[in-house]
Amino acid sequence: QGPLLTDSFGRTMSYLRLSVTDRCDLRCVYCMAEHMCFVSHRDLLTLEELYRLSAVFMRHGVRKIRITGGEPLVRKNIMCLFEMLSRHIKSGELDELVLTTNGTQLPRFAGKLHELGLRRINVSLDSLDPERYRTLTRGGDVRKALAGLDAAQEAGLKIKLNSVAMRGEFEREVDHLIDFAHGRGMDLTLIEEMPLGDVHHDRAKSFLPLDKVRKDLESRWTLVPIEDKTGGPARYVRIEETGGRLGLITPLSCDFCASCNRLRVSCTGELFTCLGKDSSVSLREALRGSSGDEQVETQIFDAVAHKPECHNLSVAAEAVSGIGRHMSVLGG
Ligand code: GTP
Ligand code: 5AD
Ligand code: SF4
Repeated sequence: QGPLLTDSFGRTMSYLRLSVTDRCDLRCVYCMAEHMCFVSHRDLLTLEELYRLSAVFMRHGVRKIRITGGEPLVRKNIMCLFEMLSRHIKSGELDELVLTTNGTQLPRFAGKLHELGLRRINVSLDSLDPERYRTLTRGGDVRKALAGLDAAQEAGLKIKLNSVAMRGEFEREVDHLIDFAHGRGMDLTLIEEMPLGDVHHDRAKSFLPLDKVRKDLESRWTLVPIEDKTGGPARYVRIEETGGRLGLITPLSCDFCASCNRLRVSCTGELFTCLGKDSSVSLREALRGSSGDEQVETQIFDAVAHKPECHNLSVAAEAVSGIGRHMSVLGG
């Protein structure tokens, strides 16, 4: 064990979000543009390189790793990475190895993931309505996502559904999402849309603040705040009528930055110390240039020392202040 990754605000980094691909079988409207340029093969870190980087982070106090994308389960041979990482759950070095996925590939992989020690996964599902799902994902089939949920539950994985709140249909559908998730014993988390990347709609128009959604929900449901920290950014309430948990992620109000414990690495080896900033440090050359990890470690410590206190994203009627990178690069 080496020194911990503590930043200049006293926050210690214990949660690594590792993006293994920028590709995806869907094209969610808030995440990608219709036509995207994807990373070329030679810029992509190999699974061995991704593992080597993870090991460096674990040596310096990272205890939770989330595999994300793009859609992580479309990366070739991705189970090899889970296999390498899962040894660190068994050895007690990692508390949790988790996954964020759109669910479409789970019928193939859920059993294996459980076997490797994964216990919970987060599945992005914005709508249960086939037409709306098709529109939001630009062509996706909701039945595939639902089959993925079935497979994951059969395999014994605990599921949290993630839904991005957008003005309009979402407000009519949120009750249905709550009934569906809680009826099947899944948590549901609502996420405010973040202005990352140029997509084809006006985010100032689609942005739906979650405090509004919450007020609205309170007219129909009884929300009881609960202390339930997963080490992620969500604040949780229990809905008395369903007995289920509802998480609210409100990045735009910047209310969780003070306790941020997260670092992100993209599939090309870029280290981002804040989701809401464009700046990053490339670890790839240092990784490829030497079989020792000293240079990579120096770069990581230097980046952490400069981690910003908070992002400055905003969505207001008068101006959207976002950044150029698409969400699919880092998976949130
Ligand atoms: P749990 O382990 O279940 O708590 O997961 P999580 O909420 O950390 O992970 P998930 O992949 O479900 O993340 C949900 C979303 O929260 C992400 O896609 C982002 O949109 C948002 N989010 C997570 N961390 C941050 C953060 O540090 N800053 C901002 N702005 N948003 C974040
Ligand atoms: N704002 C907020 N959440 C987003 N996601 C993708 N793009 C955005 C965005 N612009 C969500 C996905 C998934 C998670 C990893 O990030 O729905 O649940
Ligand atoms: Fe794919 Fe997830 Fe982005 Fe949708 S939000 S396009 S499922 S990476």
